[in-house]
Amino acid sequence: MIKRNILIASAFFSFSLGIAQQYGGMWIPTELNEKEMKDLGMKISAKDIFNTQKPSIKDAVVQFNGGCTAEIISPKGLLLTNHHCGYGQIQAHSTVQNDLLSNGFWAKNMETELPNPGVTVDFIVDIKEVTNQILEGTDKLQDQDLAKKIANNIEIYKNSQKTESYQSITVKPMYYGNKYYAYVIETYKDVRLVGAPPQSIGKFGSDTDNWVWPRHTGDFSMFRIYADKNNKPAEYSKDNVPYVPKHYLPVSIKDKTENDFTFVFGFPGKTTEYLPAIAVEKIMTEIDPARIAVRDVALKTLDEKMRTDDATRIKYASKYASVANYWKKWIGEVEGLKKSNAVQKKVMYEGSLVSKNHEVKATLDQLNKLYNDQAPFALNNAYYTEVVRNAESFALANMYSTHIASVESGKMDEKGLVAFKKKLTSFYKDYSAELDSKVTAKLLALYANKTAPQFLPEGFDKYKNEAQNIISFEEMSKNSVITGRNQVNGAALNGDIEKAFSNQDKLIKTIKKDPVYQLFMTIKDTYMKTADPQYTSLQAKIDVLQKTYMAQQMSTDKDRKFFPDANSTLRVTYGKVKGSTPRDAVSYDYQTHLAGVIEKYVPGDYEFDVPQKLIDLYNKKDYGMYKDKSGDVPVGFTATNHTTGGNSGSPALDAHGNLVGLNFDRQWEGTMSDINYDPRFSRNIMVDTKYILFIIDKFADSKWLIDEMKIVK
Ligand code: ARG
Ligand code: GLU
Repeated sequence: MIKRNILIASAFFSFSLGIAQQYGGMWIPTELNEKEMKDLGMKISAKDIFNTQKPSIKDAVVQFNGGCTAEIISPKGLLLTNHHCGYGQIQAHSTVQNDLLSNGFWAKNMETELPNPGVTVDFIVDIKEVTNQILEGTDKLQDQDLAKKIANNIEIYKNSQKTESYQSITVKPMYYGNKYYAYVIETYKDVRLVGAPPQSIGKFGSDTDNWVWPRHTGDFSMFRIYADKNNKPAEYSKDNVPYVPKHYLPVSIKDKTENDFTFVFGFPGKTTEYLPAIAVEKIMTEIDPARIAVRDVALKTLDEKMRTDDATRIKYASKYASVANYWKKWIGEVEGLKKSNAVQKKVMYEGSLVSKNHEVKATLDQLNKLYNDQAPFALNNAYYTEVVRNAESFALANMYSTHIASVESGKMDEKGLVAFKKKLTSFYKDYSAELDSKVTAKLLALYANKTAPQFLPEGFDKYKNEAQNIISFEEMSKNSVITGRNQVNGAALNGDIEKAFSNQDKLIKTIKKDPVYQLFMTIKDTYMKTADPQYTSLQAKIDVLQKTYMAQQMSTDKDRKFFPDANSTLRVTYGKVKGSTPRDAVSYDYQTHLAGVIEKYVPGDYEFDVPQKLIDLYNKKDYGMYKDKSGDVPVGFTATNHTTGGNSGSPALDAHGNLVGLNFDRQWEGTMSDINYDPRFSRNIMVDTKYILFIIDKFADSKWLIDEMKIVK
């Protein structure tokens, strides 16, 4: 019965896509499924994608500032990434008089490109599997001894390798520590801002359209890598020259057709595709709902104020967007896990593994027990973590408590103190104590109501009443120094921070008596005593078993080709340009157009305003070579590539390795792909290269950038 169901399920999945991409896949570029890629339409070879002997596509793909991905699109080191990846740099160059976020920025020539101290791009020079070296002599070891030996082996390996002064080596575990891979990395440090459309293009649709298809965001920005005279990495200097890449991506403006082959090359952050059913069930029914509930309250309270007060809206815009991003993703994830029957699918898969290999049963029995034992602690961990993140009074108190602990244990040095003050200053810059007081009061009530009594401090029942909290917490907030509403050492912490820190002993003494700080510390101490130790020690046991379970899946399910979960290392995923039918009677096309931007246009709206010049171009139909067969400019498209956070800014390439799109999001109905990829609903969203070039050429009059590129017509 179980076996038959699986057959039916897999027949259905492969049928629905016509290919064997049932589980998605983020492949290590040295271990590609060349045959399947070619079967799907790829015209180049795996060696063209990754090669250490001669230039290959990987030489044009970089990790941008440690998080996003970017790609080189000209022989002069021109770099393309998302607007939301360059947001911080665009913001840093903005002032009220010269607001690059609102107006956009376009350098007229190389001399006017803007430096960004601290921003880096990483090239992957080489990838090697080093499992034997790293696991040598670890057979009989466990826990801390095992971790120590591995760390030691990694150091020995790194020291045994010859690298240039501008290179480094990172060793990363794959398959939960069953394998290890070493990466040789080259880091460039002079990265200048070249161009960015205004937010009304680069962030069009903002939070309302985030994670949503059909999408009309021109989410791109451009940078340039500079190098020293020898083309090697160097700190910023005006004498540096544009970097000459080993390879750069030709940019295609050919029309797209459904089922075209594409692949996405980049640095996906984190997935968990190999969890047992029980873990997925806990995420779906307990953990995600808890996180969503906390953010629901925070976002609603912020929104009420932001809608009526412009100053607050500007202050909280970026915070709101970041809280809303994962809030919305988790809602989609829960829906998608339900809809794709993820738990049932995993239960059936486990049944089939056990029928082939009886050892799997013991592993799964233990994992089931551990996840059930951990559940109450994990739930408290989820609420605690989210409340501390979203109740800013508690986030502040938590920062001070860590700082005080480090001062009192003698670990705080001058550098650490400077960094802490800097962190506080940037926190207080976008902070409203009055608004925070309301959010915190409500989250306090939520925590008191949702937390099992054994994890709550004594006498906490009194915080169950939200209306009462709003009054009583406002009293505390008003009497607090950490909210900035009272002075210490003659200054407010959100005013003259140097003065407030002038006498540290007095500052610490005052904070320890602070009512907000004291309330938070009772919550934290109780959490640290009652939930955290059990949560952490059970998690350590789960991790050990997950490694075993991973190895057993790989040795038992011989027909399946496994890829390691994403871990911010360079990966290739591939698929086809495709629309989808996510709900009854709802069917999505794979492509959006400029007409759709105009359809969504709401004059003056902070999410859906459109620049006048774009409207003019639309009215004149001044599209040049950037329209497609429909006569309109294509804006976004979807495909079945398996992507996640970190793939933002990743190039989407065609069968020949030409750039056809810029990855920036996923379709809501498929965001459970981090846990359970489903070819029926999981789609990545990309900006069409035609829209990017159209904006650069027609909107920004920056033809000089197009002239640098190799355009494939
Ligand atoms: N959802 C996309 C990604 O995870 C874009 C996020 C930025 N945009 C936003 N509206 N918050 O990260
Ligand atoms: N927007 C995400 C990022 O910043 C990519 C979208 C996703 O999670 O798929 O990396």
